[in-house]
Amino acid sequence: MVRDLVVAFAILAFSAGTALAQPKIEKGPIKPTSAADPKAMFTTYCAVCHGAEGKGNGPAASALAKVPADLTKINARNGGKFPDVRIRRYIEGLDEVAAHGTRDMPMWGGLFNSLNRDTTQLRIAALADYLKSLQQ
Ligand code: HEC
Repeated sequence: MVRDLVVAFAILAFSAGTALAQPKIEKGPIKPTSAADPKAMFTTYCAVCHGAEGKGNGPAASALAKVPADLTKINARNGGKFPDVRIRRYIEGLDEVAAHGTRDMPMWGGLFNSLNRDTTQLRIAALADYLKSLQQ
């Protein structure tokens, strides 16, 4: 099933002779991490697109149709306040509306459920708090 797969993005391929390497996104089984370690979760699941520091410049960014959001500027985009609820729902994938089309970002709720349903909300809350701590 799609939601059991997804994620784990490999950054591949400098095909010989090409000046511009085109990264490819590979989807594989989600890697386990500790739900109590948001930095490890961010590094494992998010950094490939959003960058190690959350600035939106991860190695897979150029393979996406949309630019990954700069996650250090969430406050700045929201009148100086961190929109906790919206961010959690976004990470989980709850606000996905068919009419808005597909998004490039995986819906993490289902993926985390596939690791352990009991810790999904913990993971999402910890990631949102982590993002909050990155605000500049
Ligand atoms: C495959 C690439 C990819 C991965 C992996 C990814 N994101 Fe994203 N993310 C995006 C893109 C692209 C956007 C821009 C919105 C869109 O999809 O249209 C985005 C948007 C967001 C937003 C919305 C920001 C805002 O201001 O509304 C949040 C929050 C976010 N990502 C958090 C995360 C977290 C946390 C993780 C890891 C658990 C993660 N992302 C993993 C690609 C990714």
